[in-house]
Amino acid sequence: QPAGPVLAIESSCDETACAILAPDGTCLAQRVVSQDGHADFGGVVPEIAARAHLALLPALVEATLADAELATTDLAFIAASTGPGLIGGLIVGTSFAKGLALALNVPFVAVNHVEAHALTARLPGIVPGGAPFPYLLLLVSGGHCQCIAVEGVGHYRKLGGTIDDAAGEAFDKVAKMLGLGWPGGPALEKLAREGKPDAIALPRPLLHRQGCDFSFSGLKTAIAQKLAPYGQEALPHQFAADLAASFQQAVADVVADRINHALDMMPQARLLVAAGGVAANTPLRARLEDVAQRRGLRFAAPPLKLCTDNAVMVGWAALETWRKSAERGLPAPNNTTLRPRPRW
Ligand code: KG4
Ligand code: ZN
Repeated sequence: QPAGPVLAIESSCDETACAILAPDGTCLAQRVVSQDGHADFGGVVPEIAARAHLALLPALVEATLADAELATTDLAFIAASTGPGLIGGLIVGTSFAKGLALALNVPFVAVNHVEAHALTARLPGIVPGGAPFPYLLLLVSGGHCQCIAVEGVGHYRKLGGTIDDAAGEAFDKVAKMLGLGWPGGPALEKLAREGKPDAIALPRPLLHRQGCDFSFSGLKTAIAQKLAPYGQEALPHQFAADLAASFQQAVADVVADRINHALDMMPQARLLVAAGGVAANTPLRARLEDVAQRRGLRFAAPPLKLCTDNAVMVGWAALETWRKSAERGLPAPNNTTLRPRPRW
């Protein structure tokens, strides 16, 4: 274990976050700012996000240190998401973290953002009884949609992913077509509660197809066609609710099928983990739980604030990497020369 706490930074998309974790993974303090200023554009604007990270980070880091009642000199090392993500934000967060590490003369650990999502389930207290390797991770957010076999720290196999939109992107686009705000997922889920999931026939892209890839653009097009007759007219409320419910049902059907295929490809898995903003969707969670139960597996989804982008997961992934180096008798990791990688 490192000699002191780690300070971690997350800035790969539109959350600016900082967390401080004790060497055993206990969270000492964490703060997340979900940037505003993007909603008017109906999506994250990379340039606005990068500038906001730059404006927010110094005070956020100071406040997080104050919450933990620590000084920078107490820190054993610094970590940051170094990719994949929006390059501007990655540069801001990584440069900030490297600068701090150099000034304090402590190591800088570069963290892969997807790896951080993948290892969140292993944070102490998340999964009752712990999350031993290997497990299947379904990562479903606005930017990601993939099935990953998590076999060990640094050992991941992508079993399948989306061939067009991410799941959250589909939720957001459909919500926009229904005249709901951005981000659309939560609003769509709320509207769907008033609708019937079997009211409107929609396609189930890639259902029963080999492998576990996803596709959502056909579903989006089908919704656009159902909406076309209304033109600029306001939608009847019940019709909008039925459409939302039917869309959500179609997504759940497809995801359940894809996960079954992924589990077929990974017979050693004893645990299914869902992460990412879309994993907050209650009907989807229920379906995943059902899939796991039928197969005699455990199901876990980290609490929402650890499912969406945060810095606790970044600090935890860095600690796991640190421990793995130590176990192998290697020197502590230090990635000061590593550059941010938008497509890592
Ligand atoms: O993980 P996240 O906060 O950010 C990244 O994309 O990295 O995920 C945000 C996405 C958005 O597309 C949002 O609409 C979706 O997650 N989302 C939901 C729900 N809550 C958030 N989608 C469906 N149902 C929800 N309850
Ligand atoms: Zn993320």
